[in-house]
Amino acid sequence: MKALVCTEFAPFSSHKVIETEAPKIKKGHVRIAIKAAGVNFPDILMVQGQYQVKPPFPFIAGAECAGDIIEVGEGVSHLKVGQRVAALPGVGCFAEEAVVPAEICVPISDKMSYEEAAGFVMVYATSYHALKDRSDIKPGETLLVLGAAGGVGLTAVELGKHMGLNVIAAASSQAKLDVCKDYGADHGINYVDEDLKARVREITGKGADICYDPVGDKFAEPALRSLKWGGRYLVIGFAGGDIPKVAFNWMLLKELDVRGIHWGAWIPRNPKGHMENMAELMGLYEQGKIRPRVSGAHKLENFADAMTELVERKVMGKVVLTM
Ligand SMILES: NC(=O)c1ccc[n+]([C@@H]2O[C@H](COP(=O)([O-])OP(=O)(O)OC[C@H]3O[C@@H](n4cnc5c(N)ncnc54)[C@H](OP(=O)(O)O)[C@@H]3O)[C@@H](O)[C@H]2O)c1
Repeated sequence: MKALVCTEFAPFSSHKVIETEAPKIKKGHVRIAIKAAGVNFPDILMVQGQYQVKPPFPFIAGAECAGDIIEVGEGVSHLKVGQRVAALPGVGCFAEEAVVPAEICVPISDKMSYEEAAGFVMVYATSYHALKDRSDIKPGETLLVLGAAGGVGLTAVELGKHMGLNVIAAASSQAKLDVCKDYGADHGINYVDEDLKARVREITGKGADICYDPVGDKFAEPALRSLKWGGRYLVIGFAGGDIPKVAFNWMLLKELDVRGIHWGAWIPRNPKGHMENMAELMGLYEQGKIRPRVSGAHKLENFADAMTELVERKVMGKVVLTM
């Protein structure tokens, strides 16, 4: 099979798709014929040796995929050959086939394309967990989303609106803000040209109730200070580069909560909650209440083009590879 095999850490553009042996089926696993794979920032960091997870060489990159089950390992009874699934094993997905633990396979709606499914699990499940399980949302509250047209950001906009929140999207261009409006944002702030804190105050009066922050860096402090009394700040990630360091007095002054979100580490601690969330998300998709946005699809061989789009902040929603 063809796969992006990583034999050393190097700049992503120097890696190659090569012919390699397909992985062997194992007890409790299924073999998936991959149709599409979602591209995420950690994939880029991992092949460059900059991610906290450093698999032993050689490894196949690619955290998540969607496709058809073509083989079922011993002991697996709830899945069958021919079933369409999405999975997020963390590695092994930039390939024509992957062998993954059966318990992480999520059956996908017949209506959902492989491209949509390939980038669905991580971004929707992260935002759903953050908003549903970690935010103490009350309908009518205001949610500020940073990096709002990015992978997780756009799902926070869409799910926030669905949960009855007043959504303010913050992003770096008008084109991105237009996409956010199309996904339900009530207001848009171009945080490159405008003063983030002042604009949130202008829109809300007293400030936002919740901030969803996958960007960090220089936007974190104005975003935290734009919250009102009792506000909740959701730390999602640091796509902007720097991990922000903020003074504790901001939390004291307005009784703010800063809440870390680590979706991947929450799953093994609450597998039932995760499966419930996935079923609810698939239900929302079935009912047409959420619409995964695929910003672009590239052939597996052209993985570097997809990664370049991510690095250059050109992706609005998800970029995927097709096999
Ligand atoms: N905590 C969790 O459980 C969890 C789960 C999934 C992902 N994450 C993290 O969340 C972060 C975002 O993931 P994502 O999939 O949404 O990524 P993404 O699709 O690349 O979006 C990130 C957004 O960040 C903004 N950004 C600002 N400065 C940037 C820079 N220097 N380089 C790239 N983007 C920059 C961009 O929006 P503008 O151009 O509008 O500024 C971009 O749309 C990552 O750090 C990821 O590891 C965390």
